[in-house]
Amino acid sequence: MSSSQLSSSGKRVAVLGATGAVGIEFLKVLERRSFPIKELRLLASPRSAGTSLFFQGEKIPVDVLRRESFRGIDLAFFSAGGEISKQFAPAALDAGALVIDNSSAFRMDPTVPLVIPEINAHQINNHRGIIANPNCSTAIALMALYPLHQQFQLRRVIASTYQAVSGAGAMGMEELETQILDSTEKRPLISKHFKHQIAFNLIPQIDSFLENGYTREEMKLQNESRRILNLPDLQVSVTCVRVPVYRAHSLAIHASFQQPVSLSKAQDALLSAPGVDLLDNPSESLYPMPLYAQESDCCHVGRLRLEQGNPYGLAFWVCGDQLLKGAALNAVQIAECL
Ligand code: A2P
Repeated sequence: MSSSQLSSSGKRVAVLGATGAVGIEFLKVLERRSFPIKELRLLASPRSAGTSLFFQGEKIPVDVLRRESFRGIDLAFFSAGGEISKQFAPAALDAGALVIDNSSAFRMDPTVPLVIPEINAHQINNHRGIIANPNCSTAIALMALYPLHQQFQLRRVIASTYQAVSGAGAMGMEELETQILDSTEKRPLISKHFKHQIAFNLIPQIDSFLENGYTREEMKLQNESRRILNLPDLQVSVTCVRVPVYRAHSLAIHASFQQPVSLSKAQDALLSAPGVDLLDNPSESLYPMPLYAQESDCCHVGRLRLEQGNPYGLAFWVCGDQLLKGAALNAVQIAECL
């Protein structure tokens, strides 16, 4: 088993799924935020055997995941999909590691805290070895909704998402790039990862459909928001759409509150919210866009306006980097709180 000795103090950390779209961001975020790491172990599938990745200028070999991979590890970031999380979290726990899981495997388990540190950091210490990171669209939506909820008390959310291909992992990003290149070369466009061509298209399906006509991805936004905000009756109705954007998600949100909404109070609440940037000057065409939200730690909020004919309603637009606040950054922030 290989891992790298980095400094004399800090945690012994494993990143499972290190070669994936989120895994690579984990390494960047841990390095950029100087997370104290004594030893780093990178884990992936047999496909990555023999490869290495760089961390703090040091080349670290990628190990093939095995049950014993977590021996001696204090903290394991999991980002290799739900099935792998379910299969290997017990091994990590047995080895004494704390798991921060980016998959949906444990998010609705009442014994597992589901955390966005800016909102419910107080839940972190209730863990029994696993802490769940929310779905990417949920995290980005709630970063904007929570400060508004504190001000006006949230009642109902109607949203459409515009989700980048990074949400489908490195293969999703590759497929968009290949289709764009093939199109310029007048070659036939092949869809392997997405159900339909994603270049120059929008696909109104993310994950599989449920009996109620919604997709699993759409229901995550309702179910996870209810848990994180501790609002079990919150009504959330969402349409999730995959768009040909590389890595930042956007959402058009209409939120209804218990209290009448004041636009200036809403702006003030967002201006003072940690992790949120208010970009809202329509006369100068200043509003969030996914291209400029990528690689930003903050979620960008704009296009704030009162709902027509509803004094309790606010409409707005939010963009956030799916790989950062929607995944790696949030998980590292959880670890920092610990
Ligand atoms: P690998 O690159 O070796 O396939 P993404 O979401 O970008 O597709 O990344 C998924 C991550 O999960 C990758 O690092 C991938 O490793 C890892 N992974 C997928 N399946 C397994 C598996 N069976 N065992 C360990 N790691 C896996």
